[in-house]
Amino acid sequence: KHPAGAPSPDLARKITKVGIVGAGLMASQFALLFVRKLRVPVVITDIDQSRVEGGVAGIHASIDEMQTKGRISPDESNRLKALISGTTDLADFADADWVIEAVFEELSVKQEVFANVEKIVAETCILATNTSSLSVSAIGSGLVHPARLVGFHFFNPVAVMPLVEVVNTPATDDETLATAMVVAKTLGKSAVITADAPGFVVNRVLAKLLGEAMHAVETGTPFEVVDSATAPFGLPMTPFELLELVGLTVGAHVLDTHHAAFPDRFFESPALHELADHGKIFTRDAKGKRTGFDPAAVA
Ligand code: CAA
Repeated sequence: KHPAGAPSPDLARKITKVGIVGAGLMASQFALLFVRKLRVPVVITDIDQSRVEGGVAGIHASIDEMQTKGRISPDESNRLKALISGTTDLADFADADWVIEAVFEELSVKQEVFANVEKIVAETCILATNTSSLSVSAIGSGLVHPARLVGFHFFNPVAVMPLVEVVNTPATDDETLATAMVVAKTLGKSAVITADAPGFVVNRVLAKLLGEAMHAVETGTPFEVVDSATAPFGLPMTPFELLELVGLTVGAHVLDTHHAAFPDRFFESPALHELADHGKIFTRDAKGKRTGFDPAAVA
């Protein structure tokens, strides 16, 4: 099966309920997208009640903001909220036909998530992972039915970025791939089918940019200089702004994955791990606009 070739959409399964594992920022963003575009019930789960409640509250706040801005009516706001629910009980996923995870980027964590989900859902339920840096095949290695696992990789900010990478493993079957393509289209995203290779396509390219920017710093050029030198290239964000957007820990994982896979082509970045521990690169105002470099980060 050539990764560029999408199977017929006629093979796609109908999605009537979505389960989302993880109630963090990224998962909450695509929960909102799923209810808006698929208009089916979406259940989100996380490891404890407070995370679940935080996730649902964040989605409600985004819906309220859309209503305040006049983008949706009060009726639509209520309809969307009614479609979202939170649970700590995976049994609530029993009748889901699409389960997607966006939990911590740790292979064993994602494997455990899907092992638990597989005990609950029907054999026809599609399993999708939003992993940005792990092998999708490795995530599915313990599954009873690995043919229904597919990578479904969103980009930050989920509501704005137009692309989803649909990651096709050697085990993924045509029904799963066709369903993923139809779901991506229904979500209003353009989708590309990629091979299950490190970084898929987008992160492979981004890892070069971000890794080289970090390497320039690590070899003696100050942060401020690398930042201002890369700003006029026409990209919407400088490499350091992009690293903060995707999350410094996620960024460090992405670079580690690429260095492990291609040690002669990608740098690892101890400085990025230190930044991830520190938590930020920039100082920001109340609206999130950058106001300068955090002195402790760039010291
Ligand atoms: N959530 C929802 N909507 C958002 C948003 C967010 N976090 N940030 C911005 N937006 C929306 C705004 O509401 C605005 O929408 P309207 O035009 O409808 O009002 C629109 O995006 C533009 O926003 P702004 O005018 O405030 O800001 P901007 O023009 O500077 O654009 C940006 C902001 C879209 C984030 C832009 O800077 C950008 O495209 N940055 C690059 C993002 C990128 O490359 N993402 C990929 C990262 S890699 C990744 O995510 C994968 C991984 O695995 C690591």
